[in-house]
Amino acid sequence: MSKVILLGAGGLAREVLDGIEACQRAGQDIQPIGYIDADAALWGQEINGLPVLGGLDWFDEAPGRRDIPLIAAIGAPRSRRHMVQEALRRGLQFTSLVHPAVHLSSRAQLGLGVVILAGCVVENRASIGDFTVINNLCFIGHDVQLGAYCTLAPGALLAGGSRLGDGVDFGIGAATRQGVTIGSGAVIGGQAMIVEDVPANAVVVGVPGRVMRFFTPAWEEE
Ligand SMILES: CC(C)(COP(=O)(O)OP(=O)(O)OC[C@H]1O[C@@H](n2cnc3c(N)ncnc32)[C@H](O)[C@@H]1OP(=O)(O)O)[C@@H](O)C(=O)NCCC(=O)NCCS
Repeated sequence: MSKVILLGAGGLAREVLDGIEACQRAGQDIQPIGYIDADAALWGQEINGLPVLGGLDWFDEAPGRRDIPLIAAIGAPRSRRHMVQEALRRGLQFTSLVHPAVHLSSRAQLGLGVVILAGCVVENRASIGDFTVINNLCFIGHDVQLGAYCTLAPGALLAGGSRLGDGVDFGIGAATRQGVTIGSGAVIGGQAMIVEDVPANAVVVGVPGRVMRFFTPAWEEE
């Protein structure tokens, strides 16, 4: 069995665990053995039948552990980047998870450590950056380019050729017009309709989407 460990022990990690179990039912050779989380209060607890093994130091405590890949399952882009970069600095490995109920074009490109949950459609020549998480029921149109560490909440709709920078937090049920560009670190509110380019780190809400404020610290500064 190919063991995997979830990086994060929150709500997204439980959703990813459900996705792993769907992969098992579909015949994939994958075996989750637990969660790694920075919150020491969780260490030793059991969540959905799996233990929270500890923090990243857990990998150094016995030989062989460093061979087990992580799946990055932390919802917030900035927190995910922080933990993933620390894990990469320690030389740990990552793998991706694509739920079996995803329509993934054979011409789409996936980066390292990507998560795509149930019911998503990823179309022709879409490209998904490293450590990006695409939650349930999202549509990623043809030629869409997603940067690294983005989070797409359930029901996001990205029209053909849209481009998202790194770390974009794209809200539940929000959508883009074809070809728009969203800068790194932007936060798109639930149900927003993005009809024009969005600057980096902008928080945007409404239909049509309007900048409400700017997120601090900026994505590039953290
Ligand atoms: C956009 C968002 C990030 C703003 O969060 P915030 O900065 O904490 O904003 P607040 O809740 O303080 O609201 C500020 C104002 O924006 C409005 N607002 C907040 N979210 C909005 C949205 N999605 N659409 C329209 N208006 C919104 C509020 O009503 C409030 O208006 P007011 O000043 O007239 O009272 C957040 O509301 C949001 O939509 N997040 C997406 C959540 C999501 O997709 N979760 C998925 C989890 S799986």
